[in-house]
Amino acid sequence: MSPNQWTVAITREIPEAGITPLREAAAIKQWPHDLPPTPEQLETLLQDCDGAITLLTDSIGGPLLDRLPKLRVVSNFAVGFDNIDVPAATERGVLVCNTPDVLTAATADATWSLLLAAARRIPESRQYVRDGHWKTWGPLLLLGQEVTGATIGIVGLGRIGKEVAKRARGFAMRILAFDPYQDSAFAEQYGVTYVPLDQLLSESDFVTLHVALTPETHHLIGPDQLRRMKSTAILVNASRGPVVVTDALVEALQSGEILAAALDVTDPEPLPADHPLVNLPNCIVVPHTASATVQTRDRMADLAARNLLAGLKGERPPASVNADDVLPS
Ligand code: GLV
Repeated sequence: MSPNQWTVAITREIPEAGITPLREAAAIKQWPHDLPPTPEQLETLLQDCDGAITLLTDSIGGPLLDRLPKLRVVSNFAVGFDNIDVPAATERGVLVCNTPDVLTAATADATWSLLLAAARRIPESRQYVRDGHWKTWGPLLLLGQEVTGATIGIVGLGRIGKEVAKRARGFAMRILAFDPYQDSAFAEQYGVTYVPLDQLLSESDFVTLHVALTPETHHLIGPDQLRRMKSTAILVNASRGPVVVTDALVEALQSGEILAAALDVTDPEPLPADHPLVNLPNCIVVPHTASATVQTRDRMADLAARNLLAGLKGERPPASVNADDVLPS
């Protein structure tokens, strides 16, 4: 099929870097609204498309794919792909792609922003000034937790977890990690000690989550795990909301079981503005923006477009989740 006969969907506005390469090769159907399409609207948008750039807010399962027999490539504009039923896509010969690597540094930087902001109580401090409470310098004013020399526990030492670990070296931290897949060369080079999850939780001053959402990591951090953490500990989540049991976290923050939390992701997402996590003084919530820099979002758009085009041409995309199972070897 000649390229300009392809029709592709883009399920939201994305940076131009992802649209230009597609415009030259295919007819584009782009969702024009700020809010995601409903499942019915998504199906209508994807109807008669050969491929699509999708977002983590688009749920793609087997029954939907059955109703979209023309769709051959789903190129997710995200490193995570828990919004897509990959086995169902593979069974139907649909290629699934994602955007790893290009967002690793930005996400690690954002993790550190959250960790430092929670440790040093930056949102509370800002509010204190805005509310006109700042009358003098105070020896006991808004005391936070020391980061330098503390222990950080990284749950999920994959690409992003490793970048978080590298940055922790700059803070002279003791670095613990929990991950069933161990990279001993990395651990040795960066002074990381792999430990069981329970030990990580009980010994860390900062616990930061970087696992993919899978059945194994769903609710990995619940009431028992929060109970194991120090009462001075801070929990950072830059992975997926459902890795943490939301109600248990609210309870742990309210009762003082842990000191604070800083969340890029939540369950549900978005959180309503009147949710306790949004309003607790010891919890920072940002709207899933860990990879949101101009530069990173351009790179994600470019990679998503290149993945899509390669898949449509029957070539191996730069980043795919199931190419080995879907493309002829
Ligand atoms: C964002 O959460 C992503 O998976 O890229």
